[in-house]
Amino acid sequence: MKKQFIAGNWKMNLTLEEAGNLAKRLRDELANINKVDVGVCPSFIFLRDVCKILQGSKIYVGAQNMYLEKSGAFTGEVSGVMLKDVGCTHVIIGHSERRMFFQETNSIINSKLKTAYSCDLNPILCVGEKQEERDADKTEEVVGIQLSEGLDGLTSEQVERLTIAYEPVWAIGTGKTATPEQANEVHAYIRGIIENRYGKDVAQSIRIQYGGSVKSSNAEELLGQPEIDGALVGGASLDSDSFLDIVSVAIKLS
Ligand code: 13P
Repeated sequence: MKKQFIAGNWKMNLTLEEAGNLAKRLRDELANINKVDVGVCPSFIFLRDVCKILQGSKIYVGAQNMYLEKSGAFTGEVSGVMLKDVGCTHVIIGHSERRMFFQETNSIINSKLKTAYSCDLNPILCVGEKQEERDADKTEEVVGIQLSEGLDGLTSEQVERLTIAYEPVWAIGTGKTATPEQANEVHAYIRGIIENRYGKDVAQSIRIQYGGSVKSSNAEELLGQPEIDGALVGGASLDSDSFLDIVSVAIKLS
């Protein structure tokens, strides 16, 4: 069985002090963790501090986004080279909030993934359907296009290092969670697409996280599904107790 990967997406939350305290608590509580991979994704401006706090620990640090070019006249943007330089190992690409509020298309996301690999970062690619798409029975179609266009031109070696986060948009920050069966079904569909394109080995080794109102009370039934290999946690990752509870569930199931 592969290791579960529990990552916290802190989004645009916390102060520098709060981010530091959260990182320190996770570092101290998870000093000996080895059965489960854990990561945190703070705001850009806290990355350097959080990387310093977590240096030498087993907790990965990822960014929530990056620009598709490595350097240049792109005022206000942050590059993968910079993320790597401050100590990030991961980067979230194509979160639904980026798709929705910042007009990120599958083609932009594809370019960002390629740049992330060329900067030696491990991407977490987010996919997921909106409520109206689920209601119209278009979940597989939407997720299928996000994957085929998002992964266009990537090699099997690159895809093997990818984490995919299935985050149904209607379940993000709403308190509504996909049922474990609904999530498992889409995860199996995603794994099938990966198998068709990159073969069985890659499909079996890739980790597919579930995201969308994951909390300690629903973590066990979600993480217990055979196709769910971890979670990308938003709101519940901002509180150390609730995030640690979710990590404990993953450890218990491993
Ligand atoms: P919530 O856990 O707050 O629903 O957010 C999920 C998410 O978007 C993680 O990337």
